Amino acid sequence: MIIALDGPAASGKGTLARRIAAHHGLSHLDTGLLYRATARALIDAGERLDDEARAIAAARGLALTDFDEDKLRGREMGEAASIVAAIPAVRAALLDMQRAFAARPGGAVLDGRDIGTVISPDADVKIFVTAAPETRANRRALELAGRGEKVEYAAVLDDIRKRDERDSSRSSAPLVKAADAVTLDTTNLDIDAALSAALQIVADKTAGRRA
Ligand code: DC
Repeated sequence: MIIALDGPAASGKGTLARRIAAHHGLSHLDTGLLYRATARALIDAGERLDDEARAIAAARGLALTDFDEDKLRGREMGEAASIVAAIPAVRAALLDMQRAFAARPGGAVLDGRDIGTVISPDADVKIFVTAAPETRANRRALELAGRGEKVEYAAVLDDIRKRDERDSSRSSAPLVKAADAVTLDTTNLDIDAALSAALQIVADKTAGRRA
């Protein structure tokens, strides 16, 4: 079974994907980490984020097992990832790796922006996770503060809006709901309620009750 979760930054898709995977005993890939790690490799090497040739080389050099999440989850890296993710050749360089992960025996849960549209258009279940920008900014500000990053709520909301705009308007694999995805709005749901709703969508889909 392949389960695809897409949605904007801090919508809750990552936490949901991880917990759905644990519930169903599936592997999970947070595809945002691929773009974050590509951006990190460029920054660490002193390269520009828009240097296409270097960005492609950085993407090709990634190994799924060597993500230091602590270095990738910060605010700066989210923004940098969104910039490299807009380069079509970088997306192309990361395509096979993601499809191979999705094709693991037994299945997988992947979360990102283009899983249901580009990476796994034939996924068994597609969930488009969304939430109001203010709610997402609140969550992200709390998460960053928990990591010890000093952040202003207004700056985080600004980041979220900028990233939504960049991720949705790029020409290559923009953030868009797949026609056959079910929308899950987590604005007024805590994580347990969101997980119950997501598991219900999976159950309904796999039982063939939702078209
Ligand atoms: O989900 P995230 O915040 O970790 O993602 C960081 C950036 O990576 C996001 O702003 C856009 C990009 N991204 C993408 O373009 N496609 C994906 N499948 C996942 C992330």
